[in-house]
Amino acid sequence: MTHDHVISAKSLSRADIETVLDRAAEIDRTPPDRDRHADDLLALCFFEPSTRTHMSFETAIKRLGGDALDMGPVESSSATKGESLADTVRVVEGYADALVLRHPSEGAAQMASEFVDIPLINAGDGAGQHPTQTLLDLYTMREAAGDLADLTVGIMGDLKYGRTVHSLAYALTKFDARQHFVSPESLSLPRSVRYDLHESGARLKEHTDLDAVIEELDVLYVTRIQRERFPDENEYRQVAGEYRIDAATLDDAREECVVMHPLPRVDEIAPDVDATQHAHYFEQAHNAVPVRMALLDLLLSEDDR
Ligand code: CP
Repeated sequence: MTHDHVISAKSLSRADIETVLDRAAEIDRTPPDRDRHADDLLALCFFEPSTRTHMSFETAIKRLGGDALDMGPVESSSATKGESLADTVRVVEGYADALVLRHPSEGAAQMASEFVDIPLINAGDGAGQHPTQTLLDLYTMREAAGDLADLTVGIMGDLKYGRTVHSLAYALTKFDARQHFVSPESLSLPRSVRYDLHESGARLKEHTDLDAVIEELDVLYVTRIQRERFPDENEYRQVAGEYRIDAATLDDAREECVVMHPLPRVDEIAPDVDATQHAHYFEQAHNAVPVRMALLDLLLSEDDR
């Protein structure tokens, strides 16, 4: 890893990704010494709700022997007094060795990273990027499929506002995966992401119907419609519930097809899928710990910085 900041999957090379996944696999096999990063403090600055990302980063730093320094709810932070994000991160830089930032504005992590010298990790910036989610997504795919070569991946749901989708699509392109994007037309990939993917030589097709591709898939990655990002609630209601799978949907899928979801889910994966051999989304959420431990270990190890 040669990156001080982790802002977008676009700037992670295939080698960077493999380095993190290999380290995560090592950590899974042999947990590192509990005092490996005993002096390190990780700041958690979440300006948007989170369960998985927040708790798994906290678990990861604690399992490495370090500690987490949580800004707490945005309502009790000085953002409510009008403090700018740039000032907040400049202050936090003096308290911690690395900073995890989630923010509702696309581009916030990139902007904030320009004000700090400690590693800044983008934990989701609006509808932009969520690169560490992608690392654990790829780890889960690799564990299930054996390797990341020659995968056919279907990505379904909210492709417009879903930041996990944008990050994943950039990363899968580096592994030359075949990517099938399935969504209503109103929630298809943003033009800028589609352009970048084409420029990078992505093998992609877009569909409005899962039936057209389900038989081919090694992975079906389902996403939630991001209600909170819709400027108009009526627009949300028009598409809510449209892209939902249940156990019967998977009758046509390959036996080995892995169903993933970054979670939280609302109603897009029916509970009857949970008991099938396809369901990998809880394992995916658990993989956040070794993967984020690996990333923090690499970023916080002086030899690598
Ligand atoms: N997948 C994910 O980012 O979940 P949280 O919003 O709970 O962190």
